[in-house]
Amino acid sequence: MERRQRFQDVPVLKVSVRGVKVELETSSHNLYIDIDIDGSFHGWKFLPVIGDCIIDMTEGTLDNTLADRWAFDKTPCFPGDKSIPSHVTSDDLADFFKTGATGYIGGSVFAALARKHPEYDLTVLLRKPPANFKSQFPDVKLIQGSFDDSDIIAEAAASADIVIHSGDGDHENALNSIITGMLRHDSKSYLIKLSGTGTLYEYPDTTEYLGRINPKIYSDIDDIKELVSRPDNALHRRTDAIVFKAAAEHGNRLKTAIVCPPDIYGRGCGPGRRASYYIPWFVEAIKKLGKPFYLQDGSNMRGWVHIDDFVQIYISLVEAAVAGGGSVSWGREVRNSYLILFLSYLLFMVFQLNIYKGYFLAASQEASQRDIAEATAKILFAKGEISSADAQSISNEEMASLFPDAPYTGFFSFGCNSRSKADRAAKELGHVPKAPSFWDVLESDLMDAIAATK
Ligand SMILES: NC(=O)c1ccc[n+]([C@@H]2O[C@H](COP(=O)([O-])OP(=O)(O)OC[C@H]3O[C@@H](n4cnc5c(N)ncnc54)[C@H](OP(=O)(O)O)[C@@H]3O)[C@@H](O)[C@H]2O)c1
Repeated sequence: MERRQRFQDVPVLKVSVRGVKVELETSSHNLYIDIDIDGSFHGWKFLPVIGDCIIDMTEGTLDNTLADRWAFDKTPCFPGDKSIPSHVTSDDLADFFKTGATGYIGGSVFAALARKHPEYDLTVLLRKPPANFKSQFPDVKLIQGSFDDSDIIAEAAASADIVIHSGDGDHENALNSIITGMLRHDSKSYLIKLSGTGTLYEYPDTTEYLGRINPKIYSDIDDIKELVSRPDNALHRRTDAIVFKAAAEHGNRLKTAIVCPPDIYGRGCGPGRRASYYIPWFVEAIKKLGKPFYLQDGSNMRGWVHIDDFVQIYISLVEAAVAGGGSVSWGREVRNSYLILFLSYLLFMVFQLNIYKGYFLAASQEASQRDIAEATAKILFAKGEISSADAQSISNEEMASLFPDAPYTGFFSFGCNSRSKADRAAKELGHVPKAPSFWDVLESDLMDAIAATK
């Protein structure tokens, strides 16, 4: 009773309970308390006692012995005293190194971060900084260099608490240099690496699903084992595998997440490139063929995400990292470790522990190539850009002729399936897509792409 009255004096705004984690948000002193109680479920019985101690702490009446024992800044008893908790606050953990800030994805993430979190110290690597970059972002530190400048990249990564690598996701030297640098960082640090659902394409391993629907939809929770075991020739696989290896060898201090977008639509908001790839490529190919097109019956399906929703996944991941990790599976890290230990005699669970888990798909919707082609035909015909409102099926030979320098491009972009569900972002980041749908934005994306060709 006495305890309950004490709690009544503290206006509690939010109490949320997930597993054995309790979050208590109060309006007094803008206090946000995140209590992790390990020790499997019997930890629950300590909650009332912990609640009492929290109230004592906020009122300044906590017993000195407990205050000393729990202090973040207590004096070590001996050099390297492991009982000293690592003290990480949002003020400390805010040095960023960012690549790709002139790109469609990287620029949109960069601009959104700089806008939402001016308190973060951002450093960007650019090979060709836009002329007005410094005047637009006076507080951002600029390092001039390319992805081949290993030493420059490693040095910048070594001083960062969080590295957001969102330029060319397939550049192995850039990624290796980042990891080399991060391993020199004096405490744990976070890497968010960009991939793409091109890694799910069935072609060229099989032509079975070219222009036809593949029923398989990948979940980053249910199908995580398949996602992290793609064949060596799959797109983005080589750099994804670099992250898997680094996480396996250094996961205690190198916390990693791979973000894996499907095709992205909508206008970006960064200081450089603001258009995505699919629609400009589709418009380029339509101009060559004179009509929107698909292979076979065009039932092959692709995931889509609006750039704003995709950026939100990044922001949530960054905020989780700044908060010391949040509820995110960073690499192989598994929370509730005592519970897992308790269950680890089960071989299945032991097997699960060895799987890379920090993989975040991002699709918010799907569309078939035929539906996209037919909607595009109607829009472009209405705008006077093409002479018919119909889309047509084309042959493999016609598809191959569209991008003669890179013949796979047409098959990958318009003939394959890449179906995915962003289950992990929903579960671990509370992500809910809010941006307009692909169909709402299709006309303006098409008009942007056509304007860029004129
Ligand atoms: N857009 C999509 O729909 C989509 C979907 C799934 C996956 N992805 C993947 O995401 C990655 C980025 O896509 P994006 O659309 O943002 O591409 P983007 O607009 O072309 O941006 C690429 C960024 O990387 C930088 N960059 C590339 N090579 C570099 C180098 N050697 N040295 C220094 N900087 C370099 C570019 O700098 P500069 O400005 O100097 O060129 C630019 O800032 C790609 O790997 C792509 O495959 C994209």
